[in-house]
Amino acid sequence: MNRITIAIDGYSSCGKSTLAKQLAKELGYTFVDSGAMYRAVALYAMQNGCFNHHELNENCLVNKLDEIAIQFTFNASRGASDILLNGKNVENEIRQMDVSNKVSQVAAVKEVRKKLVAIQQEMGRNKGVVMDGRDIGTVVFPHAELKIFMTARPEVRAARRYAELETKGEPSTLEEVRKNLETRDNIDTTRKEDPLKQAEDAIVLDNSGLSQDEQLSLALNWVSKLT
Ligand code: DC
Repeated sequence: MNRITIAIDGYSSCGKSTLAKQLAKELGYTFVDSGAMYRAVALYAMQNGCFNHHELNENCLVNKLDEIAIQFTFNASRGASDILLNGKNVENEIRQMDVSNKVSQVAAVKEVRKKLVAIQQEMGRNKGVVMDGRDIGTVVFPHAELKIFMTARPEVRAARRYAELETKGEPSTLEEVRKNLETRDNIDTTRKEDPLKQAEDAIVLDNSGLSQDEQLSLALNWVSKLT
């Protein structure tokens, strides 16, 4: 079987990483959560004085970009990779609400995207990769053999994300989560640099009414036609 590149894009909290992780496991591919990389850069910006309250100082971050090293390390207990920011495991920290509230501003900065896209392309050089994000099928891997554009109804997404935060013991309200998703989608789809949009050759997957198993078998069926 030939190894392919799988690009999964879509709105926030559509279950992109869940599907990408399952696909990678089934196929023996590498899973890359590109959103984690933007989150790690956002965390660095927050920890290094580049946010004035809620507002990002772009120059501050651009001047510090060379100080930021992003790597992944496999976490056997999770069955997925944790992200390292300058050698420190920040997998949990980057999922916190204050990072979620600030990350879209960071992901809109051209220089940040340039740096992260180059790392992502290098990670996918040998194929056999499943990467999820916002610009994977359009910018990072425009020649990916399989592109999936995921979507789900906003109320379904907010409820899923809220449940996820609750199990992690992260304090938030459903309304707060709903607002965060709305704001992020708005910034991600309207930004100048590589906005979230469906690649012309992507297959749309609306999983509002699908179980994880159902969406996985749909996607595996698409893969089997390409390999
Ligand atoms: O997938 P996520 O919610 O963890 O992504 C965090 C943020 O990073 C989100 O606001 C969109 C942005 N992002 C992006 O612009 N491009 C990507 N390839 C992945 C994420």
